[in-house]
Amino acid sequence: MSPVLPPKPEPRADKVSLLGHLRAFRRDILSAQPARLYRAWMAEFRTPFFESYLCNDPALVRRVLDERPADFPKSDRVTEGLRPLLGRSVFVTNGEEWLHQRRIIDPAFEGGRVKEAFPAIWAASEAAVARMEPGKVEAEFIASHAAADVIFRTLFSIPIEDAVAQAVFHEFRAYQRSAPILNLGAFLPLPRWFPRLHRGATKRSAKAIRGLIRGLTAARAEAIAEGRAPQDLATKIMTTPDPVTGETFGTAEMVDQVAIFFLAGHETSASALGWALYLLATHPEVQERVAAEAGALRPEFGVVGSLRFTRDVFREALRLYPPVPMLVREAAGPEEFRGRAVKPGAQVVISPWHLHRHERLWERPDAFDPDRWVGEGREAAREGYLPFSRGPRVCPGAGFAMLEGTLMLAHLVRAFRFQAVEGRVPVPVAHLTVRARDGIWLRVERRSGAGGA
Ligand code: HEM
Repeated sequence: MSPVLPPKPEPRADKVSLLGHLRAFRRDILSAQPARLYRAWMAEFRTPFFESYLCNDPALVRRVLDERPADFPKSDRVTEGLRPLLGRSVFVTNGEEWLHQRRIIDPAFEGGRVKEAFPAIWAASEAAVARMEPGKVEAEFIASHAAADVIFRTLFSIPIEDAVAQAVFHEFRAYQRSAPILNLGAFLPLPRWFPRLHRGATKRSAKAIRGLIRGLTAARAEAIAEGRAPQDLATKIMTTPDPVTGETFGTAEMVDQVAIFFLAGHETSASALGWALYLLATHPEVQERVAAEAGALRPEFGVVGSLRFTRDVFREALRLYPPVPMLVREAAGPEEFRGRAVKPGAQVVISPWHLHRHERLWERPDAFDPDRWVGEGREAAREGYLPFSRGPRVCPGAGFAMLEGTLMLAHLVRAFRFQAVEGRVPVPVAHLTVRARDGIWLRVERRSGAGGA
C-alpha cells in the first residue's frame, strides 16, 4: 500500500472566537472544524441564540437516524437555501407529506428496478470513455458530465447531447458556482430573524432549471396519457400511485422531485467519481487491480458480481470523501445526549465526514485501503459508515449510485491510465457536495490495446 495519505483539510485551532468561527464557516465547513472532532464522541456549540450538537457517538447516530427519526426532522433553517431550486421536494419535507412522497419514489429504486437502469448506465459509461481525450484533464468536470448523462438517460431516456439536457447541465453548473455553500444558513449560528440571502444569480439559475424541467415533465405527462412513454424512472414515478392514498404526483409536484433527482443524483455521484479517480491516480497498484478486473466487463447485469474490487474502491472513495459531508436535523423536543440536556430546536449534526475518519472507529482512518472492505475489516462500517445516511430517510438512490460508480470506474480504467499532475494536490472543500477547491487535475493516457469505447 502506498504511504501517500489522501488530502484532508487542515483543521482549525481547537479554540477560536465566535467571529473567528463564523469567518471559518464562510470559507469552508470542513476546515472550520477542530481536529478533536476526529476523536470525540460529541461536541457542543452554544451561543446565546443557537445550540448545536455534533454527534459521533454511534448510539446517538442510531437514535437520530434509525430509532426516532420523526423526533429529529429537517428544519427550515437547513433546507431554506435549497428551496428556490427544490420547492417541496422529498429532500426538504417532513411528516405526512414526506411519507407520501417516499411511498411513490421508493418503488422506482427497489432492487429489481435498479437492474433495469443497467443498460442506460452502461451506455453512459461507454459515452464517457468515447468523450475522454488523452492529456491533462479536470476530473470533476468529466465526472459531472458523465453523472449528468446517467441521470438524463435513466430518468428521461435522453443522452446528455440532447439540447434540453445540455441546457439543464449548464444551468446546474452555473447554479453550483453561484449557490452558497450547502447549509451555510443552517450551520451558521445566527438567530432565526437574521435575513438570509438567496443571491440573485442563484435564484435566476434555479428558475431557469425549473423551467426546463417543467417542459420535460409536461411532455412526459402527455406521452404517458397517449400511451407512448418509455419505461424509465420518470414514467415509473409519474404512474405509481401512493399505496395509502391512491394519489399520483401531479406535473407540478413532479417538477420538485425531478429537481432533487438531478441535484442529489448528479452532484453526489460526480463528486464521488472525481475523488475515486484521484485516489486511483495516486495509488497506481490499486488502479492496475481495477484495470485487471475490468477486463471482464460485458454488457449484462451479472457482470457486477465480478467487479468486487472496483466496488470496494468506490466504497472507500465514499468513505474518505463522502459527497454529503454532514446531515443536519433539529431536536423536536427535549433530549438528553451523553448526559447533557438538549433543548427543543437545538441543531443536531451527524457528520459522515468525521465518522468516516474517526480515530476510535477505524484503523488508519486517513489511508486509502479498499481491501479494508473484505472480511473482518467491514465491522467498523456498521457504526461509522453512512455515505447514504441511514434509517427511513436513507438515500433512495444508494443502490443505483453504487452500480453507477462501479461501472463508470471500470469502464474508464479499462480504457485509460490516470496519473496525478505534480504540484496539484486537490484540497477538499464543501460546496453543494465535497469538491476540490481548484478542481482535480489528472494526466490521462490510453492503455495499449484499449481501443476506446
Ligand atoms: C454517490 C452518490 C450519492 C450519495 C453519496 C448520496 C447521498 C445521500 C445522502 C447522505 C442523503 C441524505 C441527506 C440528508 O438526510 O440530509 C441523500 C438523500 C437523497 N438522495 Fe442521495 N446520494 C447519492 C446518489 C443519489 C441518486 C443517484 C439519487 C437519485 C437518482 C439520489 C436521490 C436522493 C433523494 C431523493 C434523497 C432525499 C431522501 C429523503 O430525504 O427522504 N441520491 N442522498
